[in-house]
Amino acid sequence: MARADTIETIKSCPRLEGEVVPPGDKSISHRAAILNSLARGKARIDNFAPGADCLSTVRCLKALGVRIDRAGSQDPPTMSVSGTGEHGLKEANNVLHAGNSATTMRLLGGLLAGQSFLSVITGDASLRNRPMGRLIEPLRLMGADVSGRGQDSFAPLVIKGKKLRGIDFTLRVPSAQIKSAILLAGLFSRGNTIVHQRIVSRDHTERMLVRMGGSLESKGNSISLRPLTGPLKALSLRVPGDISSAAYFLVAAAVHPSARIAIRDCGVNPTRTGIMDILLAMGARLKTENERLEAGEPLADIVVESSELEGLEVGGDIIPRLIDEIPVLAVAGCIAKGRTVIRNAGELRVKESDRIATVASELSRLGARIEPLSDGMVIHGGRILSGTQVDSHLDHRLAMTLAIAGLVARGETTIKHARAAQVSYPAFWQTLQQITKY
Ligand code: S3P
Repeated sequence: MARADTIETIKSCPRLEGEVVPPGDKSISHRAAILNSLARGKARIDNFAPGADCLSTVRCLKALGVRIDRAGSQDPPTMSVSGTGEHGLKEANNVLHAGNSATTMRLLGGLLAGQSFLSVITGDASLRNRPMGRLIEPLRLMGADVSGRGQDSFAPLVIKGKKLRGIDFTLRVPSAQIKSAILLAGLFSRGNTIVHQRIVSRDHTERMLVRMGGSLESKGNSISLRPLTGPLKALSLRVPGDISSAAYFLVAAAVHPSARIAIRDCGVNPTRTGIMDILLAMGARLKTENERLEAGEPLADIVVESSELEGLEVGGDIIPRLIDEIPVLAVAGCIAKGRTVIRNAGELRVKESDRIATVASELSRLGARIEPLSDGMVIHGGRILSGTQVDSHLDHRLAMTLAIAGLVARGETTIKHARAAQVSYPAFWQTLQQITKY
């Protein structure tokens, strides 16, 4: 959780240059910790995401009896997970705390629904305000006994684990967290579980389950899963860099008049690369090099240089492929020529902050012209931004977005609650300092 009093100051700078190695992917790290807990044997997870969110998952799994150690004190962290097998989790002797992390709460919610014990899971003020009905509904259809505050809408959640049954379910929102929760519950159900997605969301759970010996098949937009009949196989891996963290530097280089940034070892799973597609469509000078695979996940190096961007319309099926990058994409929209319109992104309203409201209000303080819409925003480009005081609203993605806006704003930008960035990218401010050349 961010402390109330942390302020960062960003000055406009004449040149951006250097190499950025983004932290390990947050989504993949959560899944590597959770799925390896259900394996028999030890897995070594290198480049584990260092932010507070994945440490929340580790803390909860430890409370459930899984042995997880940090191997050495090197940065980025390596985690060693000693799986307990498919029936090895134990009732925690206290409330589980997911911190700021919805992925922790929702994925563990699915997993715990099918265990033979009681769990109570809560989170910080932001997480306790985020929708959990979308998790409770499919789990109840599977026979789960899960309830939540506010007539089953919010955390804390009380989960009385029981034997579940597989379901055939169509996701109402394109959410990888809900999809993954259902699949994790499905591992402990009688009968197969089938999940249909109207729009495909990130598929890290599916990829990892297959590699660990799970019986899962993805065809088009549907996934079919058989319950576990034994432990998963432990999977050691090096987590690819997080494209959602790299996105700040992709946009920074594209909008800055004198920039060249190379991002190394970055995950480029096609369910996550919407930000690259949109920047390219806006005219960014961006190329990928060295494409390769690590534990079934594609990664690459990405080089971006100063570009003349043009606004465009963003909406439809691409939204889940860039949902976390929309705040920083809005900065690209402010600088680009013409209008950028973002639609079909109502999910932004239920993230760590209401990102339609907070992005529009904070970038407007810097001189942006943004009209919030119910499901997106209209950004009038070609603006010259001017530094002033802005606020992250304790939202990590907003803190980093405002820093990138500050780089191209005239004068000085001070960001209140800047420490929120540590939820996903503790080294962000240091990396930013390394690539700004005065
Ligand atoms: C995530 C899925 C997305 C994303 C979040 C991480 C995941 O959320 O916004 O940061 O790891 O599954 P939704 O599933 O709510 O869309």
